[in-house]
Amino acid sequence: MSDLHYHGFGGNWTVIKLEMLQRYLEAFNTALQGKPLPSSPFRRVFIDAFAGTGECAINLDGKTVRIEGSAKLALEVQPGFDDYYFIDLKAKHVKALNELAQTYPGKRVAVLAGDGNARVGELLQQISWKGSRAVMFLDPYGMAVRWETLQQIAATGAIDLWYLFPLNAVCRQAANQFDKVDANKSEALTRLFGTTDWMEDFYQDTDQTDLFAEEEMAVKRQRVLSQDEILAYMQRRLRTIFPVVLDPIKLPDQGSPIFALFFASANPSQSAVKLTKRIAGHLLNMQLTGMLRTKPLRVGQVTGSEGLFG
Ligand SMILES: C[S@@+](CC[C@H](N)C(=O)[O-])C[C@H]1O[C@@H](n2cnc3c(N)ncnc32)[C@H](O)[C@@H]1O
Repeated sequence: MSDLHYHGFGGNWTVIKLEMLQRYLEAFNTALQGKPLPSSPFRRVFIDAFAGTGECAINLDGKTVRIEGSAKLALEVQPGFDDYYFIDLKAKHVKALNELAQTYPGKRVAVLAGDGNARVGELLQQISWKGSRAVMFLDPYGMAVRWETLQQIAATGAIDLWYLFPLNAVCRQAANQFDKVDANKSEALTRLFGTTDWMEDFYQDTDQTDLFAEEEMAVKRQRVLSQDEILAYMQRRLRTIFPVVLDPIKLPDQGSPIFALFFASANPSQSAVKLTKRIAGHLLNMQLTGMLRTKPLRVGQVTGSEGLFG
């Protein structure tokens, strides 16, 4: 790969999330082969709405290690998908994705430039969901995924979703003191949760004695939900629109979490619910119990820390 593909971000949790995605894609495509009927199987679709370049340069113990990113892993997965859609906002990444697509001439790949929310909204209207089943990966750096996008995904009834939820960023926006949540933070949280209810649910009035004027009682609105409770809140929100939402895993798996990886499925059919719960539940559980052995996904290695977290 040329340096067009160099994309510095992430750490050991990137390997974990990609390993889980890759294994899910393999299991999904294997399970759906020849379904519902060998003569008219579902079209299997992969949608990567924050697709990157096909490569990630991650920081592992102070070293930059280049590994295959989600787009490349999806193209390599066996059995393959019928259609691949890669979306990215950044022009350089779109160029890298187009270059990557050209190296797979036998595959139907569409690279879409622009905001993932907007492009997903348009794309979901164009696919016939009666005859298609999809896996979508939402892997933003931060709080870019809008609630309406999740609603549109859920409304297809046909998409299995892996969503890297920006737990730490959400907790930073939802400051401990409500008066520190400015208009920008408030709008970002409302876009992400799809409701203003978080203002009531996260915060409570607390009487606080002012140390310098003991008689005066100041009423302050304080956040009363912990990071774990905010994650549980998001899980409850997702359960209002998806028939399947499994318990997320926090990433990194040691120390302070930055993200949480959610699996949700829009497919309400009993057989699909059983299957997706079994496959995704098994993967999440393997990670929780330390059984997920991550394969070395590296495509090369550079020393030092140049370009990290770009
Ligand atoms: C964490 S990276 C994705 C990494 C990718 N999944 C991989 O494994 O290689 C996030 C990507 O989202 C892109 N991005 C940022 N904001 C976006 C937006 N609003 N819509 C679509 N893509 C966006 C960035 O350019 C970046 O390539």
